[in-house]
Amino acid sequence: MTVSADIAPDLATEPTAPWWRQAAVYQIYPRSFADSNGDGLGDIPGITAKADYLAELGIDAVWLSPFYPSELADGGYDVADYRNVDPRLGTLADFDDMLAALHARGIKIVVDIVPNHTSDQHEWFQAALAAGRGSAERERYIFREGSGPDGAEPPTDWLSIFGGSAWERVEDGQWYLHNFAREQPDLNWDHPDVHADFLETLRFWSDRGVDGFRIDVAHMLTKDLTEPLPSRDELALIPKDGNHPLIDRDDVHEIYAEWREVFNSYDPPRTAVAEAWVDPARIHLYARPESLGQAFNFDLLESSFDAQQFRAIITENLARAAQSGSSSTWVLSNHDVVRHATRYGIPQQSADAAGEVRHGGEWLLSGGSEDQLDREKGLHRATAATLFLFGLPGSTYLYQGEELGLHEVADIPADERQDPTFFRTNGEEIGRDGCRVPLPWTADGGSFGFGDGGAHLPQPQWFADYAVDREDADADSTLNLYRKALALRHTLQTQEQLEWIETGRDDVLHFARPNGWQIVTNFGTEPFPLPDGDIVLASRSVSDGRLPGEATVWLAPR
Ligand code: NOJ
Repeated sequence: MTVSADIAPDLATEPTAPWWRQAAVYQIYPRSFADSNGDGLGDIPGITAKADYLAELGIDAVWLSPFYPSELADGGYDVADYRNVDPRLGTLADFDDMLAALHARGIKIVVDIVPNHTSDQHEWFQAALAAGRGSAERERYIFREGSGPDGAEPPTDWLSIFGGSAWERVEDGQWYLHNFAREQPDLNWDHPDVHADFLETLRFWSDRGVDGFRIDVAHMLTKDLTEPLPSRDELALIPKDGNHPLIDRDDVHEIYAEWREVFNSYDPPRTAVAEAWVDPARIHLYARPESLGQAFNFDLLESSFDAQQFRAIITENLARAAQSGSSSTWVLSNHDVVRHATRYGIPQQSADAAGEVRHGGEWLLSGGSEDQLDREKGLHRATAATLFLFGLPGSTYLYQGEELGLHEVADIPADERQDPTFFRTNGEEIGRDGCRVPLPWTADGGSFGFGDGGAHLPQPQWFADYAVDREDADADSTLNLYRKALALRHTLQTQEQLEWIETGRDDVLHFARPNGWQIVTNFGTEPFPLPDGDIVLASRSVSDGRLPGEATVWLAPR
């Protein structure tokens, strides 16, 4: 039996289909990519210096995590000035040079916009603190009086996503809301200044030539804070159907309708992709062309290396994409999760001390050790999953270092950690530093070629095995596999259709694309006899026409 899924065929097959529909977008976490001036922090000129590397990789676009002035309380997602470059990372002129270098190589640029909160160093927040209670300056944020005697208790018992109370008290006794770190006060999106300022920011970067935007926590901007505020338990009972006081409110799309006017005033229109952790049935609202136009689907980040889970996720997300008119997005790794090579290298049935079975990533985040990791198995599965994903219709987002098969650095000493999650949970959650360790460019030398001044997070010795220079010289390296796959991927992405072909095995997936190519992934360990076709790409070598376990192959018609 074959099952066919047609995905917005009219839009996608037009020669003028927007570039982003099937783009391979490479995420750069700038402070950990390449350091040009030896201060231990990656920077913008460091990215420019690697423009040829990015072009050779074969990606279509780069997404830059925040590079704005920031006190780095949350890796740059605490923005002090939305229309500038952190002086430690360069200048606006450096940004323009980088943009020109990437554009000259046909690579588009997407920048991160963080509209739910600013940094507490932002001039608005500093003005709000100085102006005091009742002032117009405080209206741009969410200030409230406390509860209990003398207002010494927070207004509610809400928790921040990074742990601890979601409220922080200021000197004059008022409290402000921060859904993330205390250095990230939430903005008040009922305030016209907030609307106007973000429109200006979007125009500022669009005028400089930026091609699109990734919208941070796109589902949390608008809030209904009508008194009395509900308690945490009451909040948990309120359905997230568009009217929840804090999350995924329908009125957030009024903001995106304003933004859409800005995006569409450029030629070509600027794009946006929503980071929205919402009920899957509501994700299409963000991906609609009149809203942000595309939304991340994070289902694979949360799934095990399992054929049936993968198939269900793919089918469901292609249907969601069709519902919104957008294309789907596929993500296995980013700067917030344990790298997928590592997730898949931890026994899937790992149980914690209490006997609870945990997904590899969760297990590692709550204190797992690198000793438990089977690096080779993790990498086999990771490249199999990646090649499977690269074959799908839609756009795919890669995270820096995955093209090297890089693993998570789990064993970072407490005093060198940076993630607020670690500190706000008193170390119970180890946080996200392990996937943010600066990249190894060379097998030798201080900081593995990242820069002359060391690295801002400690790099382990085993990074040498994954260094770019070593992999560049090895025809069978993960890096060269990614390069081949990304080059060949363009051949596949002419039309957005996929046809499932039944394999008779629960642990093997097989699909065909309109150009006649077939993609087969063996999630199990038993070899699988391949269908007819010329092997154009394989994550592990194939012998006797049988696909080994934990491997993917791409076949072209003979
Ligand atoms: C999502 C970002 O991906 C994450 O890194 C950040 O900590 C939060 N949003 C808060 O901005």
